[in-house]
Amino acid sequence: DKVILAYSGGLDTSCILKWLLEQRYEVICVLADVGQQENFEAARQKALKIGAKEVIVADIKQNFVEQYIWPAIQMGLIYEERYLLGTSLARPCISVALIEAARRYDAKYLAHGATGKGNDQVRFELCAYALQPDLKIIAPWRDVEFCRRFQGRQDLIAYAHVHGIEVTAKPATPWSTDANMLHISYESGILEDPNTVAPSSLYELTLDPLTQAPQTARRVCIHFVHGLPTVVEDLGNSRNYTIASDMLKFLNDLGGSYGIGRIDIVENRYVGLKSRGVYETPGGTILYTAHQDLEVFALDREVLRTKQLLRDRMSDYVYNGFWFSPEALYVRRCIELSQQHVTGQVTVELAPGYCRAIARKAGVNAGALYNQQLVSMDEHGGYVPQDAGGFIAINAVRIREHVRAFGAYNTE
Ligand code: ARG
Ligand code: SIN
Repeated sequence: DKVILAYSGGLDTSCILKWLLEQRYEVICVLADVGQQENFEAARQKALKIGAKEVIVADIKQNFVEQYIWPAIQMGLIYEERYLLGTSLARPCISVALIEAARRYDAKYLAHGATGKGNDQVRFELCAYALQPDLKIIAPWRDVEFCRRFQGRQDLIAYAHVHGIEVTAKPATPWSTDANMLHISYESGILEDPNTVAPSSLYELTLDPLTQAPQTARRVCIHFVHGLPTVVEDLGNSRNYTIASDMLKFLNDLGGSYGIGRIDIVENRYVGLKSRGVYETPGGTILYTAHQDLEVFALDREVLRTKQLLRDRMSDYVYNGFWFSPEALYVRRCIELSQQHVTGQVTVELAPGYCRAIARKAGVNAGALYNQQLVSMDEHGGYVPQDAGGFIAINAVRIREHVRAFGAYNTE
């Protein structure tokens, strides 16, 4: 039988490849290029040498940025108030490439190297079932036989040696990494103790904000149309970026040099475990900050409130693996509707370790709820201050009634 293997080039999936061959499967490896630093040709050769029938290097970077990262920025997705979902967003995008390969090779099986304790197994499999309902999944890390044979990294290394699988020359880090255009995540190993501080050598995308970042600020201006980034102006060099992947790359490089977008959190996995993770999302953090600023500027207050509820819902759907689901389709449409007037530009100042919006304006011909005459301290602009007296008096009815009924507030 033919099986599509989500192959990374690393030790785990290389051993899984060999193990699948031992189980007499014909294996087609799919190596998804989502912008991680990798020698794809070397990984391809490695898989072929182990015995893969075919290795597909799928460059899905453009798709990832345009169909997943940009909508996530537009929707303002953020999980548990901190995590910008870099890994979660890549999974449905990679799943599409896996399913395309399954169709092309008429493979009935899909194998992946995600563990039985994580989110990724849920995401890959739910996406696969959504896209190809009759697909069969092979998850070696949930297979009793496989787990008996490979109890830890040492067993994998030993197996690799026996079967002539190259184990990378660079020493393995004592944590696991997942990298793409939007972020790098670090988990497990020495990070499992949430009270252990991550070593500064861990960070790959960002410099240390205290010791390595420039001590002078830098400004960028980000333009949005309907909540989607369209132009990034580098105000330091008067250069413009207008292609999504270029904008993200520029903001990653610049934001990274300022040490922007590092988080160190304990998060709730969908399977019910709490896990500690460290993330670097420099460009995503700048885009998130700019978009959020423009949104509060542009949206009706009550639409904004409702949109925030939907954003939290959608963030859970994405984190939990339900990108392709009826509820995600529905909520996404609603959020997109809210973005109709989120058109304009935001100037963001980058400083060591953080960024903040410092100026914003509505786009040309975009219309704007912000009304300088109406809000000004220097003119009436049609606002009748006397009306505010009645507004407060009516609101005070309830506040006074509470005191009448239950007595004065204790302010001691
Ligand atoms: N905890 C993050 C998430 O669930 C990152 C997962 C990292 N995945 C990995 N295979 N290393 O989205
Ligand atoms: C894994 O368990 O395979 C990685 C972590 C996760 O999926 O949450």
